[in-house]
Amino acid sequence: MCKKKQELTIPVTNPLDKRPPILKKNLDRNLCVCNEVLKMDIINAIVNGATTVEEVKEQTYATDGNGCCTQQVERLIECLCWPETQE
Ligand code: FES
Repeated sequence: MCKKKQELTIPVTNPLDKRPPILKKNLDRNLCVCNEVLKMDIINAIVNGATTVEEVKEQTYATDGNGCCTQQVERLIECLCWPETQE
């Protein structure tokens, strides 16, 4: 590789590295066990524009059982939509 090309190389970083641990664990497991919705599918809904529990429910059916995962979904929304409020 020529020297000039090496200088242009941008280090690869995972954007999740700076996010809270809640966003990195168990991505391939059901966060909503009532409706068998993967945590990754909920994160994708939020990243693609869902900013409320209702919007996540409309897109994924998470929280549409007895609502037992609502707090977890709210936490994901907080982490992804308002990361500057994280401590
Ligand atoms: S686990 Fe999601 S509604 Fe029960």
